[in-house]
Order: sequence, then C-alpha cells, then structure tokens
Amino acid sequence: MMQKKSEDRQSIHGQWSSRWAFIMAATGSAVGLGNIWRFPYIAGESGGGAFVLVYIACVLLFGIPIMMCEILLGRRGRQNPTDTMASLAKDEGLSANWHYLGWMGIVAGFLILSFYSVLAGWVLEYIWWTGSGRLSMVSGAEIDGLFEGLLASPLRLLLLHTVFMLMTIAVTMRGVKYGLERATLALMPCLFVLLLLMAAYAMTTDGFAEGVRYLLYPEWQQISGGMLVAALGQAFFSLSLGMGAIMIYGSYLSADTSVMKVACSIAAVDTLVAIVAGLVIFPLVFTYQLEPSAGPSLIFETLPRAFAVMPYGQVVALMFFVLLLFAALSSAISLLEPAVTWLIERRGLDRVVASIVAGIVAWLLGIGSLLSFNVWQEYKLFDKTYFELVDYVTSNIILPVGGLLIVVFTAWFMSKKSVAEELQLGDGLLLRCWQLTVSYVAPIGVVAVFLHALGLFG
Ligand code: PHE
Repeated sequence: MMQKKSEDRQSIHGQWSSRWAFIMAATGSAVGLGNIWRFPYIAGESGGGAFVLVYIACVLLFGIPIMMCEILLGRRGRQNPTDTMASLAKDEGLSANWHYLGWMGIVAGFLILSFYSVLAGWVLEYIWWTGSGRLSMVSGAEIDGLFEGLLASPLRLLLLHTVFMLMTIAVTMRGVKYGLERATLALMPCLFVLLLLMAAYAMTTDGFAEGVRYLLYPEWQQISGGMLVAALGQAFFSLSLGMGAIMIYGSYLSADTSVMKVACSIAAVDTLVAIVAGLVIFPLVFTYQLEPSAGPSLIFETLPRAFAVMPYGQVVALMFFVLLLFAALSSAISLLEPAVTWLIERRGLDRVVASIVAGIVAWLLGIGSLLSFNVWQEYKLFDKTYFELVDYVTSNIILPVGGLLIVVFTAWFMSKKSVAEELQLGDGLLLRCWQLTVSYVAPIGVVAVFLHALGLFG
C-alpha cells in the first residue's frame, strides 16, 4: 500500500495562485443565491429564529468538519471527484467502488446548476428592469404583477436561463487562474459592503424590530423533523458541500495551507452573509406586510419594494442585483467544474469543449425547472413541482448523504496517518477533537436528523 501525499500529485488543471485565491474562490462558491435567496425563504417557511439556531449548529457540527474532509480529500487526490475517490481508496487498499461517491456529486452538480441557472435568470431580468427604470416608483402590486408576468413566460425564462448558462460556461472555459480566480477576487468584497449598506437601510424601516425578532428569537416549539432536515440541507447547500465542488477546489490548493483555518473562514463568512441577508429581508417583509413564508419568490417581491422608495433606490438596486448575479456566477462555476474536470481527464476533451458539453447538460435539465413555474405548474409529485422536487432532493437528500459518505470515508476508511499528514494539527487536543467530531458527532448527527425526520427517532 503506497499512500501518496498531496505534494506527490499535481492537478493537470494548475493551482490557485495563493491561499487567499483559494479562500476567495471557495467563499465565492459558498456565497451565492443560497445565502441571499434560499436562506431567507427557507428560514421563513420553517419559522424563523429556531431554524437559524439549528442552522448554525449544523454549520458548526457538520459543515466545518465535512468541509475540512472535502478539502483534504481533494488536495490529496488532485483529480476529478470520481478519480480522486478511486485513487485515495486504492492508496488505502480499499474498494474502487468509492468512485461512485464522486459520480453522485457530479450528478448533483448538474441538477443543482439546472435550477440555479433559472433563478439566476430572474436576477438578470431584475438587472434589466432596474437598468431600464421599470422598477422605479412602482407600487407593490405592480412589482408583484411584473414578477408574476415573468414567471408566466417560459420563453423569457428560457432566454434568461440560456444567457446565464453561457456566462457560466464562459468562465469555466478559461480555467482555474484566469477564469475561476479572477471572477471572484474583486467581486466578493463589493457584495459584502453593499449588503451591509442595505442592512443599515433596513434598520431605518418600521419593521426592523419585528424582523430581527423573527429571525433571531427562537420559538422552540417550531423545531420539527422537517425543520431539522431543512436546516441540514440548507447548511450543505450554502457551504457547497457533499457534491465535490469544494473537493475540486481543494485539488488546486497548495500542500502547505492549513485546512482547518480556511474551512473556518469560509464557513464564517458564508454564515454571516446569510444572516445579514436575513436581517435585510425580514424587516422589509414586516414593513410591507408580506408573508415571511412566501417561498422562493420572497426576495424578488420584498427587495424591489424597498428599492422603489429608498433614496437612490434604483442605483442601489442595480448594484445589488449585479453583485447577486456575480455571487451566483461564482457558485455556478463551482457546480460545473467537477463535471468539466471529469470530461477533460477521462474523455480527453479540451477545456472549452468540456465546459460547453457540461453546460448543455445542465441547461437541458433546467428547462424542466423553468416550465414548472408555468406550463408544468400543475404536475406534481409528492406535492412538489419539478423545480421544488429537484431543489428538495438535491439539498436535503443527495448533499447530506454525499457529505455523510465523505466524512465516513475520511474518518473510518482512510488511515489516521494519511489524514493527520494532510491536516497538520499536531498530535494534541485539537487533533483529538477533530477525530471525535468526524468519527462520531458528524456522521451520527446527520443520520439522527434523517431518522428524526422519518419519525423513527426522538
Ligand atoms: N453554495 C452555493 C450557494 O449558496 C450553491 C452551491 C451548492 C454551490 C452546492 C456549489 C455546490 O448559492
């Protein structure tokens, strides 16, 4: 058995130019529609404060440890997720079947990107509307009307979905340094600043106290099996875990970077952005007497109302939607990258062709999502439309199961020596805490949440 260390392998796709570049790219992957669109809407549907607390617990107990596992596996394997898993399993003398885990991730990436791109298309439309002045000085009812009109128009949605997918392809096509890295480095900090500005505005609204209370004051009776799964799924979705995105980004990371430090900073920024987004959205929801549980349309109906009345609202709106688009783009590229690397390494395609092929697959799958807002609205399985089903199954089932297998592989199948070599946590308390978390806390916790949801436990 010959275990290869991360410095013994090289990714054929190159490396991040610095540790900072990796942090920015991985944060770019984590921060996206998941924080600004999905977090507030899921929190609203699941009852607010209690959800937020459970969510934070999921990030700390499962998210950070699993992110560390994903980074270290990726860095040691340095290939697409399927071959990374196969090589690491081989190094440890294990079955090559572990490569199916990589496959599960690639499929999840396609599925998530397919609806992600449709939603990012909505953001594109809002950019167009703000840029052309259509959203200025309009009433709440007019905003709702415009939004409903958009959802009712499959051709318009198709056009927007296509444009966003082309943008994603255009970035992945350019590779690690010139595509992924450049796209994120400048834009993420701008998004944070703007979000803070908007939070400052939200503080001046009448609904601020109620919004803060809703988001941060837990009502314990709200906790249910369904909510635990929703929080777990949201943690995986928001941190980009369980499908190989962070693994592939880890494969471009230099051997001397501390995995723990980077994982903690990415998770901290991601969680902060989600909470600040909630602190922007919920005060507006209460100020304009909207429904916190409105679902996926939440930010698209609340934010424009605020932009329509706030000073310089249209300028802020334009900046906000443009940055949201970039946040979405830096996540979308990480959804496509695992499949792109597979096509390059395994099918010998060049990066341009691989990006186009993978993009087309995700684009085709996305057509189902965009139709489920209009033509297919009535077709439901388990009371969910195609879009809702893909969103639910990927976030709440495939990502947590993927994450569970990743942590089980690292903790129980890889040799302690290999893991310790990658982590470089010394051999004291820190390492022991980590081992305890990945061997017991994270896997048992994830399984317990599932059992609880099935009504089998607790
Ligand atoms: N984390 C991204 C977001 O919050 C979405 C994502 C999920 C990206 C899974 C990659 C992998 O928007």
